[in-house]
Amino acid sequence: MPTSRPGIDVLLHEDRVFRPGRNFTAGANQGDPAIYGRAARDPEAFWASMARELTWSRPWKKVLEWTPPHARWFVGGRLNASVNCLDRHLGGATRNKAAIIWEGEPGDDRTLTYAQLHREVCKFANVLKGLGVAKGDRVTLYLPLIPELAIAMLACARIGAVHSVVFGGFSAESLRDRINDAKSTVLVTADGGYRRGAQVPLKRTADEALHGSPCVRHVVVVRRDNFPIDVQEGRDHWWHRLMQHASADCPAEAMDSSDMLYILYTSGTTGKPKGIVHGTGGYMVGAFATARWVFDLKPPDVYWCTADIGWVTGHSYVVYGPLANGATVFIYEGAPDWPDRGRFWELCHKHGVTIFYTAPTAIRAFMRWGIEWPAKHDLSRLRLLGSVGEPINPEAWMWYHKYIGGERCPVVDTWWQTETGMIMITPLPGITPTKPGSATRPFPGVSAEVLDDAGKVIKHGGGYLAITRPWPGMLQTIYGDDARYLQTYWSRWDNKTYFPGDGARRDRQGYFWLLGRVDDVLNVAGHRIGTMEVESALVDHPSVAEAAVVGRTHELKGQALAAFVTPKDGITVDTRLSDELKGHVVKKIGALARPDDIIFTAELPKTRSGKIMRRLLKDIAEGRTLGDMTTLADPSVIHALKQKYQEE
Ligand code: PRX
Repeated sequence: MPTSRPGIDVLLHEDRVFRPGRNFTAGANQGDPAIYGRAARDPEAFWASMARELTWSRPWKKVLEWTPPHARWFVGGRLNASVNCLDRHLGGATRNKAAIIWEGEPGDDRTLTYAQLHREVCKFANVLKGLGVAKGDRVTLYLPLIPELAIAMLACARIGAVHSVVFGGFSAESLRDRINDAKSTVLVTADGGYRRGAQVPLKRTADEALHGSPCVRHVVVVRRDNFPIDVQEGRDHWWHRLMQHASADCPAEAMDSSDMLYILYTSGTTGKPKGIVHGTGGYMVGAFATARWVFDLKPPDVYWCTADIGWVTGHSYVVYGPLANGATVFIYEGAPDWPDRGRFWELCHKHGVTIFYTAPTAIRAFMRWGIEWPAKHDLSRLRLLGSVGEPINPEAWMWYHKYIGGERCPVVDTWWQTETGMIMITPLPGITPTKPGSATRPFPGVSAEVLDDAGKVIKHGGGYLAITRPWPGMLQTIYGDDARYLQTYWSRWDNKTYFPGDGARRDRQGYFWLLGRVDDVLNVAGHRIGTMEVESALVDHPSVAEAAVVGRTHELKGQALAAFVTPKDGITVDTRLSDELKGHVVKKIGALARPDDIIFTAELPKTRSGKIMRRLLKDIAEGRTLGDMTTLADPSVIHALKQKYQEE
């Protein structure tokens, strides 16, 4: 029987349990189950012990200063993120070990050892200084998945500049808004990138964005592959030219533990994306510790996280976490199905990947493409698999475990967010028995509960996920809007309990089962998309009077966007308009937000006070029986709409 809690239905029941293999446990970076209890008894001592593994130029005086809802971690301590990712590995065997192995979509490749990466980072840090970038200044990075993105991030970190990476799939308008919100003075981009054989004209998009971004004084352009570009003299500079004369000597800025490391924009429930601010000390400790224990990184491993560096997964688990551990990170520029559907498996074999971290949406696509693709390649070096970004359905988990992991690799389903900065709920592969579909339990030193509306703990059953203690990777604020920080994350119950916006269930063993978002944010192919943002983009079109966007279940993407649109009077409704509106959303936000369905309607279902009843629209989009309609102003609207949707 499904159990029910306010607004959250629990339908999933899963009893299979997979215990860590004895060999895995024996060699694991963390194999002692007592760690959970020890960390819970004194979380601050636990985090301090992890922090001591990093390099600090001045020790901290206090582990945590908690003035809810603001936390300061490792108060008084000084460190530099790039030193922890690079310099500290140069003294020993890691010096000439591969830090980054990169392959471009066309098959070109590059390897940078730790010493080489260090050199490039120092040089680019000096380039940035030469362009007038100083500590605290913001630099926007809009690049394909190429090593220069990691180099630029670490170069910013080296001189104390704050990077703001904007995913290369975002439109000119999204890029412009993010540049302006951060008031960046420098933009780093590329002449273009590759996606499924096509050229993505990044510089052209950047030029368009820059018409509305007067704060940018300099643009550095990486030459990816001689794509044609316009150069604005005085403003635009080629990366390789600037690097030619740059010194490789760049002392690292000793940053206060609380100094900002980066801003990363993410979707929220209101129109404007939020600039999530991460600090230096706590964030580095969180990324380092979780990467070490969750992925069990060892010197011979080749680790591949398939996320783009433009998302938080790429920040914490392509760049900062693995490099702080001295790991070898593989990076691939392209898509999994180009030139064929075996591309990822071919790369795993070619580069000897041992640890593979991807998203459920990709796993579902692999399942659909069939086992013949992975079967063509030798995946026997793989020893650990990870999943992130959305709930993983048990069938996908089992498929991943069987056909990619050969039934020998532990699968770690990791729950976290842009805001948390680090993995929060996850198995530890040497310790935690896993259940397909469950992210299992909080990482040591992290406290999570399932709460009801009133903030009462639900021991078994469904409710809202809550984080009940500060954690080192936590966001510091929303850039330029601390009131929104408080309102969004810390006002659901009290100002000491963090509300991530996700529903969750706890089972009898205390395992967490994440149930997806409970707010107006959708998870489409692992990307958080605010319905409000898409609605704003639609209403921006001259033919649209009103729009409401909801998510519906989608076999591959997890969720798809269904847009209910009321056109302005006298507008002819046809497929041309529907295509035009989809194109308009792509132009305003980017292809990731393209609605799958556009349903035209003369009226939207509203309450008597005029609020759009998205809940009923969702019922329609999902093909479900309509829920409670007692507050609806005009029930005939919804019945007509339901019929129309079914017909289409
Ligand atoms: O709803 C949860 C889902 O992704 C959201 C965070 O999205 P974002 O900030 O873009 O970061 C994605 C990568 C960390 C969460 O609020 N989510 C993420 N991981 C999982 C998940 N849902 C269920 N299980 C997960 N493992």
